[in-house]
Amino acid sequence: MTLVEKVGQTAQRGTSSRSKTLSEDLKQAVREGRVGSVINVTKAEFVKELQEIAVKESPQGIPLIFARDVIHGYKTIFPIPLGQAATWDASIIEQGSRIAAVEANTMGIRWTFAPMLDISRDPRWGRIAESAGEDPYLTTVLSKAYTRGFQTSDLSNPTSMAACAKHFVGYGAAEGGRDYNTAVIDNALLHNVYLKPFKGAVEEGIATFMTSFNELNGIPASAHAYAIKQTLKEQWKFDGFVVSDWNSVTEMIAHGYCKDEKEAALRAAQASLDMEMMSEAYEKNLITLIKEGKFTEAALDKMVASILRIKLKLGLFEDTSFNEDTSILYAEEHLKAAQRAALESVVLLKNKKQILPIKASSKILITGPMADAPLDQMGTWSFDGDASKTITPVDAFRQDNSIEHQFIPGLHFSRDSVTNAFPAVIAAAKKSDVIFFFGGEEAILSGEAHSRADIRLPGKQEALLQQLSKTGKPIVLIIMAGRPIDLSNILSDVDAIMMAWHPGTMGGPALKDLLMGEAVPSGRLPVSWPKTVGQVPIHYNHKNTGRPASKESFVHINDIPVGAWQSSLGNDSHYLDAGFEPLYPFGFGLQYGSVEYTDFKLSANEMGMQDSVHASITVTNRGSYTEQETIQLYMQDEFASLTRPVRELINFEKIVLQPGASKTISFTITKEDLKFYHNGKWITEAGTFNFWISQNAQSGTPEKLTLSE
Ligand code: NOJ
Repeated sequence: MTLVEKVGQTAQRGTSSRSKTLSEDLKQAVREGRVGSVINVTKAEFVKELQEIAVKESPQGIPLIFARDVIHGYKTIFPIPLGQAATWDASIIEQGSRIAAVEANTMGIRWTFAPMLDISRDPRWGRIAESAGEDPYLTTVLSKAYTRGFQTSDLSNPTSMAACAKHFVGYGAAEGGRDYNTAVIDNALLHNVYLKPFKGAVEEGIATFMTSFNELNGIPASAHAYAIKQTLKEQWKFDGFVVSDWNSVTEMIAHGYCKDEKEAALRAAQASLDMEMMSEAYEKNLITLIKEGKFTEAALDKMVASILRIKLKLGLFEDTSFNEDTSILYAEEHLKAAQRAALESVVLLKNKKQILPIKASSKILITGPMADAPLDQMGTWSFDGDASKTITPVDAFRQDNSIEHQFIPGLHFSRDSVTNAFPAVIAAAKKSDVIFFFGGEEAILSGEAHSRADIRLPGKQEALLQQLSKTGKPIVLIIMAGRPIDLSNILSDVDAIMMAWHPGTMGGPALKDLLMGEAVPSGRLPVSWPKTVGQVPIHYNHKNTGRPASKESFVHINDIPVGAWQSSLGNDSHYLDAGFEPLYPFGFGLQYGSVEYTDFKLSANEMGMQDSVHASITVTNRGSYTEQETIQLYMQDEFASLTRPVRELINFEKIVLQPGASKTISFTITKEDLKFYHNGKWITEAGTFNFWISQNAQSGTPEKLTLSE
């Protein structure tokens, strides 16, 4: 290969997702062997045309890889990733990504930019919607499931898509939740929290990585040699390739890290970034840099080899054809899987006086801007989903003649501030037995570049809810949104709350079944839900501080006497007005029935480094519904040479329990579960540990274990 052809493999070209044509320039570049991958080609015929040029007319006949953001479904849209994470169910995620790959294959897409593995502790950040939430363990389990689903065990399977672990790394720690922002993460936190899911994806054989837009500790991620070269490639032995994010190489100039594109190319290549998305710093500068002796052809060869290795594994050198049969799109079993995912992603947050499920004989008023919002229901990153295929809650109720209901939207979109229809909604509410208010955020209010400083329900939704509450009729608030919402102004106005995230194509039937008791809610929060935005970032796995917050010592702002003596004594780490706990903790989710946890024990309270201990609990379904229960194992390393979080999830299991049934669940604990990263290595220190098996990150009573050398 010539130098031009080698550099060509490192180039990803493309257009905007909305582009309807194929440019002559792009065709010519492919013909000359100057392109390795193309992003956002939106028609199968264009994919075939370009691929044919690459294979038949380019100098080496090397096939292209076609890439696209197939994030939570291609045509059949599954819940947004944050919603899928609320299922705590790897099988749902694996099945969803498999279906996405099979459908995307009809357009020749063999590379997706998913899963997004950024630990997200800040709901202001729009991209929390694309994440699996705040927990490294849950995100790791799901990162593996996404990888298996997209890739299968054999990348050469024609319906396999190479997956891409993104965004490497630290993007979720964007300062203030403002997108693209600076991340400052110390090395221990980086390994103990932010890198973990990425390591999991490598263990599962993920084919590619994408660097992030942010700078991490002063170095833009696309040139972060410690992250890409040392950690990912040298330590973890990742042998796929790493692509930049869109223009993130040349954006290093705006970051103030590189003075021009040439320096940007050099820094990125030195950090071992293999492919450049969209910007052309490599194409314009790598050869000169090699000729000037600043970069070596041997290093370029390594970059190219990593890209070709994945093309080989995908089987593209043998066969570039794909299944163009679009009749499989929205196949019955795809819709069924999407409905199951939507159903299991819903988290029941409040259910005053067990108002849910609603009796089939009730007269229901359906209102709110998200009740019939087919596009918004699909959420962020659903370019290819067809809104006309979405079944909204209104559609689902209309398809069922047995339920007496009326629909008046009241507001036409989430930010709507026109209140003309309020009187009609109130009048209808007075004649109803119950109000289903579908509120939330339009899809465009979360996702990339869509951060919010105020995370309450936008527009006049709060006003409508407050007026409705004056009717005295019970209100069920169903939220469709890309993030936890600040409910402080309306919490007491509503009787029940269901978080449905953006549930995708089949959200409507799933929600109808849950509301009417034909199915039961089983989702659990993958993020802590703040009482107010002022508590953000708030996450369960925080450190203790020297003055740990406690219920006993907490004094609310309104209880401080006027003229009180100025003193910090007796006060702890909390907010005077919001306390220290979230509104709903990580792992939380109510049920229609009740499940009891008894007999929590450790098989031993002492353990040596080579031993293992079993933590077990008996779980009994005391209600009359068949429940899905997610049993969560948490630990705390009480004293360590590096302070450790108050709790960390180290395992979980989701089970089905028939009414009256009991099951004993046992988790094995070894020193592997207790390790942490400190001073450049993973260590497990002797000492005392607390364990909880509980229904969320705040409940349960711990058992103690002493670990000796
Ligand atoms: C920018 C986003 O940050 C990334 O997640 C996405 O995959 C690329 N653009 C490609 O669309």
